[in-house]
Amino acid sequence: MITNERMIAYINSLESPESPICEMIRKEALAEMVPIIRNETASLLKFFIRLTKPMHILEVGTAVGYSAILMSEYMPEEAHITTIEKYEPRIPIAKENFHRAGKENAITLLEGDAAEILRSLEESYDLIFMDAAKGQYIHFFPDVMRLLASGGLLISDNILQDGDIIESRFAVTRRNRTIHSRMREYLYTLKHTPELQTAIIPIGDGVAVSTKQ
Ligand SMILES: C[S@@+](CC[C@H](N)C(=O)[O-])C[C@H]1O[C@@H](n2cnc3c(N)ncnc32)[C@H](O)[C@@H]1O
Repeated sequence: MITNERMIAYINSLESPESPICEMIRKEALAEMVPIIRNETASLLKFFIRLTKPMHILEVGTAVGYSAILMSEYMPEEAHITTIEKYEPRIPIAKENFHRAGKENAITLLEGDAAEILRSLEESYDLIFMDAAKGQYIHFFPDVMRLLASGGLLISDNILQDGDIIESRFAVTRRNRTIHSRMREYLYTLKHTPELQTAIIPIGDGVAVSTKQ
Protein backbone atom coordinates (compact mmCIF):
# COMPACT_ATOMS: atom_id res chain seq x y z
CA MET A 1 0.00 0.00 0.00
CA ILE A 2 1.67 3.23 -1.10
CA THR A 3 -1.02 5.64 0.05
CA ASN A 4 -3.13 5.84 3.18
CA GLU A 5 -5.78 3.10 3.20
CA ARG A 6 -8.52 5.33 4.59
CA MET A 7 -7.82 7.90 1.89
CA ILE A 8 -8.12 5.24 -0.81
CA ALA A 9 -11.36 3.93 0.73
CA TYR A 10 -12.74 7.46 0.76
CA ILE A 11 -11.73 8.18 -2.85
CA ASN A 12 -13.15 4.86 -4.01
CA SER A 13 -16.40 5.51 -2.14
CA LEU A 14 -16.99 8.42 -4.53
CA GLU A 15 -16.91 6.14 -7.59
CA SER A 16 -20.12 5.15 -9.36
CA PRO A 17 -20.61 1.51 -10.35
CA GLU A 18 -19.41 0.42 -13.79
CA SER A 19 -21.70 -1.32 -16.30
CA PRO A 20 -23.25 -4.57 -14.94
CA ILE A 21 -20.97 -6.73 -17.16
CA CYS A 22 -17.85 -4.89 -16.01
CA GLU A 23 -18.87 -5.20 -12.38
CA MET A 24 -19.54 -8.93 -12.85
CA ILE A 25 -16.20 -9.60 -14.55
CA ARG A 26 -14.40 -7.58 -11.90
CA LYS A 27 -16.02 -9.60 -9.08
CA GLU A 28 -15.26 -12.89 -10.82
CA ALA A 29 -11.62 -11.89 -11.41
CA LEU A 30 -11.15 -10.86 -7.78
CA ALA A 31 -12.79 -14.09 -6.56
CA GLU A 32 -10.35 -16.09 -8.72
CA MET A 33 -7.40 -13.98 -7.51
CA VAL A 34 -6.72 -12.71 -11.03
CA PRO A 35 -4.70 -9.49 -10.77
CA ILE A 36 -6.67 -6.63 -12.32
CA ILE A 37 -6.33 -2.86 -12.20
CA ARG A 38 -7.31 -1.20 -8.94
CA ASN A 39 -10.28 1.16 -8.83
CA GLU A 40 -8.07 4.24 -8.61
CA THR A 41 -6.10 3.12 -11.67
CA ALA A 42 -9.35 2.40 -13.52
CA SER A 43 -10.51 5.91 -12.74
CA LEU A 44 -7.29 7.42 -14.13
CA LEU A 45 -7.46 5.26 -17.25
CA LYS A 46 -11.07 6.29 -17.93
CA PHE A 47 -10.10 9.93 -17.48
CA PHE A 48 -7.25 9.73 -20.00
CA ILE A 49 -9.38 7.83 -22.50
CA ARG A 50 -12.12 10.44 -22.35
CA LEU A 51 -9.53 13.24 -22.54
CA THR A 52 -7.47 11.92 -25.45
CA LYS A 53 -10.12 9.90 -27.36
CA PRO A 54 -7.64 7.29 -28.66
CA MET A 55 -8.72 5.40 -31.79
CA HIS A 56 -6.02 2.72 -31.57
CA ILE A 57 -5.27 1.27 -28.13
CA LEU A 58 -2.69 -1.38 -27.31
CA GLU A 59 -2.73 -3.19 -23.97
CA VAL A 60 0.12 -5.39 -22.79
CA GLY A 61 -1.34 -7.84 -20.23
CA THR A 62 -4.99 -8.83 -20.80
CA ALA A 63 -5.49 -11.23 -17.86
CA VAL A 64 -9.24 -12.03 -18.20
CA GLY A 65 -10.07 -8.87 -20.14
CA TYR A 66 -11.39 -6.62 -17.39
CA SER A 67 -9.38 -3.47 -18.19
CA ALA A 68 -9.81 -3.95 -21.95
CA ILE A 69 -13.60 -4.13 -21.58
CA LEU A 70 -13.59 -1.15 -19.23
CA MET A 71 -11.49 0.92 -21.68
CA SER A 72 -13.75 -0.10 -24.55
CA GLU A 73 -16.72 1.40 -22.71
CA TYR A 74 -15.05 4.83 -22.57
CA MET A 75 -13.25 4.98 -25.94
CA PRO A 76 -14.78 6.54 -29.08
CA GLU A 77 -17.30 4.36 -30.90
CA GLU A 78 -15.08 3.34 -33.83
CA ALA A 79 -11.95 2.85 -31.75
CA HIS A 80 -10.21 -0.51 -31.40
CA ILE A 81 -8.20 -2.27 -28.70
CA THR A 82 -5.46 -4.82 -29.32
CA THR A 83 -4.51 -6.69 -26.16
CA ILE A 84 -1.75 -9.24 -25.54
CA GLU A 85 -1.76 -12.19 -23.12
CA LYS A 86 0.58 -15.15 -22.82
CA TYR A 87 -0.83 -17.12 -19.87
CA GLU A 88 -2.87 -19.85 -21.57
CA PRO A 89 -5.43 -20.55 -18.82
CA ARG A 90 -6.58 -16.91 -18.94
CA ILE A 91 -6.97 -16.66 -22.73
CA PRO A 92 -10.29 -18.57 -23.14
CA ILE A 93 -11.74 -16.70 -20.16
CA ALA A 94 -10.77 -13.35 -21.68
CA LYS A 95 -12.30 -14.38 -25.03
CA GLU A 96 -15.49 -15.49 -23.32
CA ASN A 97 -15.62 -12.20 -21.41
CA PHE A 98 -15.24 -10.19 -24.64
CA HIS A 99 -18.14 -12.23 -26.03
CA ARG A 100 -20.28 -11.69 -22.90
CA ALA A 101 -19.60 -7.96 -23.09
CA GLY A 102 -20.46 -7.87 -26.82
CA LYS A 103 -16.98 -6.51 -27.54
CA GLU A 104 -15.58 -9.14 -29.91
CA ASN A 105 -15.37 -6.64 -32.76
CA ALA A 106 -13.90 -3.87 -30.66
CA ILE A 107 -11.15 -5.92 -28.96
CA THR A 108 -8.57 -8.21 -30.57
CA LEU A 109 -6.68 -10.61 -28.33
CA LEU A 110 -3.17 -11.55 -29.47
CA GLU A 111 -2.00 -14.75 -27.81
CA GLY A 112 1.65 -15.14 -26.89
CA ASP A 113 4.64 -13.46 -25.33
CA ALA A 114 4.49 -9.69 -25.66
CA ALA A 115 8.25 -9.59 -26.24
CA GLU A 116 7.72 -11.35 -29.58
CA ILE A 117 4.31 -9.95 -30.46
CA LEU A 118 5.35 -6.33 -29.93
CA ARG A 119 8.29 -6.86 -32.29
CA SER A 120 5.89 -8.04 -35.01
CA LEU A 121 3.39 -5.14 -34.73
CA GLU A 122 3.56 -2.27 -37.20
CA GLU A 123 0.51 -0.13 -36.57
CA SER A 124 0.94 2.97 -34.45
CA TYR A 125 -1.12 3.35 -31.27
CA ASP A 126 -2.55 6.47 -29.64
CA LEU A 127 -2.59 4.86 -26.21
CA ILE A 128 -0.48 1.99 -24.90
CA PHE A 129 -1.42 0.52 -21.54
CA MET A 130 1.45 -1.44 -20.03
CA ASP A 131 0.16 -3.90 -17.44
CA ALA A 132 2.19 -7.11 -17.73
CA ALA A 133 5.21 -8.54 -15.88
CA LYS A 134 6.88 -5.55 -14.21
CA GLY A 135 10.40 -6.85 -14.79
CA GLN A 136 9.80 -6.83 -18.55
CA TYR A 137 8.68 -3.25 -19.10
CA ILE A 138 12.26 -2.15 -19.77
CA HIS A 139 12.66 -4.90 -22.40
CA PHE A 140 9.39 -3.91 -24.10
CA PHE A 141 10.38 -0.24 -24.12
CA PRO A 142 12.14 0.03 -27.54
CA ASP A 143 9.14 -1.55 -29.32
CA VAL A 144 6.68 0.48 -27.28
CA MET A 145 8.46 3.68 -28.34
CA ARG A 146 8.38 2.56 -31.97
CA LEU A 147 4.65 1.75 -31.76
CA LEU A 148 3.56 4.83 -29.81
CA ALA A 149 2.15 7.54 -32.08
CA SER A 150 3.51 11.03 -31.90
CA GLY A 151 1.34 12.78 -29.31
CA GLY A 152 0.34 9.36 -27.97
CA LEU A 153 0.07 8.30 -24.36
CA LEU A 154 1.93 5.49 -22.60
CA ILE A 155 0.37 4.46 -19.27
CA SER A 156 2.46 2.06 -17.20
CA ASP A 157 0.85 0.39 -14.17
CA ASN A 158 2.35 -1.09 -10.98
CA ILE A 159 5.54 0.91 -11.16
CA LEU A 160 6.04 1.56 -7.43
CA GLN A 161 5.94 -2.12 -6.42
CA ASP A 162 3.90 -1.68 -3.26
CA GLY A 163 6.46 0.88 -2.06
CA ASP A 164 9.49 -1.36 -2.56
CA ILE A 165 10.83 0.92 -5.29
CA ILE A 166 12.21 3.43 -2.75
CA GLU A 167 14.02 0.75 -0.72
CA SER A 168 17.64 -0.25 -1.21
CA ARG A 169 17.83 -3.37 -3.37
CA PHE A 170 19.18 -5.22 -0.31
CA ALA A 171 16.03 -4.40 1.67
CA VAL A 172 13.91 -6.04 -1.03
CA THR A 173 13.39 -9.80 -0.92
CA ARG A 174 15.92 -11.61 -3.11
CA ARG A 175 13.06 -12.82 -5.32
CA ASN A 176 12.08 -9.21 -6.12
CA ARG A 177 15.56 -7.73 -6.59
CA THR A 178 15.76 -8.15 -10.35
CA ILE A 179 12.30 -6.63 -10.80
CA HIS A 180 13.31 -3.79 -8.46
CA SER A 181 16.45 -2.94 -10.49
CA ARG A 182 14.64 -3.25 -13.81
CA MET A 183 11.74 -1.07 -12.66
CA ARG A 184 14.15 1.62 -11.45
CA GLU A 185 15.87 1.46 -14.83
CA TYR A 186 12.47 1.71 -16.56
CA LEU A 187 11.40 4.76 -14.54
CA TYR A 188 14.78 6.43 -15.11
CA THR A 189 14.41 5.74 -18.84
CA LEU A 190 10.86 7.15 -18.94
CA LYS A 191 12.03 10.32 -17.21
CA HIS A 192 15.20 10.75 -19.30
CA THR A 193 14.07 9.89 -22.82
CA PRO A 194 13.99 13.27 -24.59
CA GLU A 195 10.85 12.50 -26.67
CA LEU A 196 8.86 11.63 -23.54
CA GLN A 197 7.27 13.78 -20.90
CA THR A 198 6.47 11.56 -17.92
CA ALA A 199 4.59 12.06 -14.67
CA ILE A 200 4.83 9.42 -11.94
CA ILE A 201 1.58 9.29 -10.02
CA PRO A 202 1.44 7.46 -6.66
CA ILE A 203 -2.06 6.05 -6.95
CA GLY A 204 -3.03 2.38 -7.07
CA ASP A 205 0.33 0.64 -7.17
CA GLY A 206 1.88 3.62 -8.94
CA VAL A 207 1.16 4.72 -12.49
CA ALA A 208 3.55 6.46 -14.91
CA VAL A 209 1.91 8.56 -17.59
CA SER A 210 4.12 9.50 -20.54
CA THR A 211 3.37 11.45 -23.66
CA LYS A 212 5.54 11.26 -26.77
CA GLN A 213 6.47 14.54 -28.44
C1 LIG B 1 -1.81 -7.43 -13.96
S1 LIG B 1 -2.34 -8.63 -15.11
C2 LIG B 1 -3.25 -7.69 -16.29
C3 LIG B 1 -4.55 -7.19 -15.76
C4 LIG B 1 -5.46 -6.56 -16.78
N1 LIG B 1 -4.79 -5.50 -17.51
C5 LIG B 1 -6.68 -5.98 -16.09
O1 LIG B 1 -6.53 -5.00 -15.34
O2 LIG B 1 -7.78 -6.53 -16.27
C6 LIG B 1 -0.89 -8.97 -16.02
C7 LIG B 1 -1.07 -10.00 -17.12
O3 LIG B 1 0.04 -9.90 -17.99
C8 LIG B 1 0.36 -11.19 -18.45
N2 LIG B 1 1.75 -11.17 -18.90
C9 LIG B 1 2.86 -11.05 -18.14
N3 LIG B 1 3.95 -11.05 -18.90
C10 LIG B 1 3.53 -11.15 -20.18
C11 LIG B 1 4.20 -11.21 -21.44
N4 LIG B 1 5.52 -11.17 -21.52
N5 LIG B 1 3.45 -11.32 -22.55
C12 LIG B 1 2.09 -11.36 -22.48
N6 LIG B 1 1.42 -11.32 -21.33
C13 LIG B 1 2.11 -11.22 -20.19
C14 LIG B 1 0.12 -12.08 -17.24
O4 LIG B 1 -0.08 -13.42 -17.62
C15 LIG B 1 -1.10 -11.43 -16.60
O5 LIG B 1 -2.30 -12.08 -17.01
